[in-house]
Amino acid sequence: MHFASLIRPATPADAAGIAHVHVESWRSTYPGMLPDGYLVGLSAATHEKRWRGLLSGAGLPRGRRTFVAQGPDGGILGFASCGPQRTGLPGFGGEFYALYLLDQAQGQGVGRRFLAAMAQHLLAAGTRTALVWVLRDNPSRYFYERLGGDLLAEQPISFAGARLREVAYGWTDLVPLARLAADPPVGG
Ligand SMILES: CC(C)(COP(=O)(O)OP(=O)(O)OC[C@H]1O[C@@H](n2cnc3c(N)ncnc32)[C@H](O)[C@@H]1OP(=O)(O)O)[C@@H](O)C(=O)NCCC(=O)NCCS
Repeated sequence: MHFASLIRPATPADAAGIAHVHVESWRSTYPGMLPDGYLVGLSAATHEKRWRGLLSGAGLPRGRRTFVAQGPDGGILGFASCGPQRTGLPGFGGEFYALYLLDQAQGQGVGRRFLAAMAQHLLAAGTRTALVWVLRDNPSRYFYERLGGDLLAEQPISFAGARLREVAYGWTDLVPLARLAADPPVGG
C-alpha cells in the first residue's frame, strides 16, 4: 500500500502516534536481536508519556529535533530524531538518534525524506557532518550505506541484558543528503 505522507517537526500532540510507531517498529525490527521479554514488555503508554515530556516546553535538549511522517488520514507513520553527536567520535558534529517507520510505510522513500529533513536541520544549526549508530545485525544498516554513509566504527553495547554490537556510519558532508528531499514537503 502506498502512503502519501507529510514530514514535519513533531509536537506534543504526536506523542501517542510516535509511541505507537516505536513499539510496533521495535517489535517488527528487533526479534532475534533484542530479548523477547523486552520486546513483549514494551509499553506504548510509557513511551507516550516520555515523548509528551520530551516534546513539551524545554523537554528536548538544545539542538535536538524530532520529525514525524503523517499519513493522509492524520496518522503517524514514522518518526526520526537528531541533534548534536552524543558518543564522542571525533569529526562528526551531528547524530541521527532514531529513525523508525511502520512496516506498511517502508520502501516508499519516506526514510530517505526523513534523512534529508534531519540533514537540513543539522546544516541550519551549523553542523555539516553527522553519524548514526545501528545494531550490526540490523539489515536496515544497508539503508544508511545506500544513502552514502561510510562505515566508521564498531563497538560492543549492552541493552536490556543482551550483549550486542553496533556499527557507526558517517557523512562528512550533509549537503547531498539534504538535497535528497527534492520532492515538495506536502504530498508525494
Ligand atoms: C530503515 C528505514 C528507516 C528505511 O526507510 P524506507 O522508507 O524503508 O527506505 P527508502 O524507501 O527511503 O529507501 C531509500 C533507499 O534505501 C534502500 N534501502 C532501504 N532499506 C534498505 C535495506 N534494509 N537494505 C538496503 N537498502 C535499503 C532503498 O532500496 C532505497 O534505494 P534506492 O535509492 O535504490 O531507491 C525503514 O526501513 C525502517 O523503519 N526500518 C525498521 C526500523 C529500523 O531498523 N530503523 C533503523 C534503526 S537505527
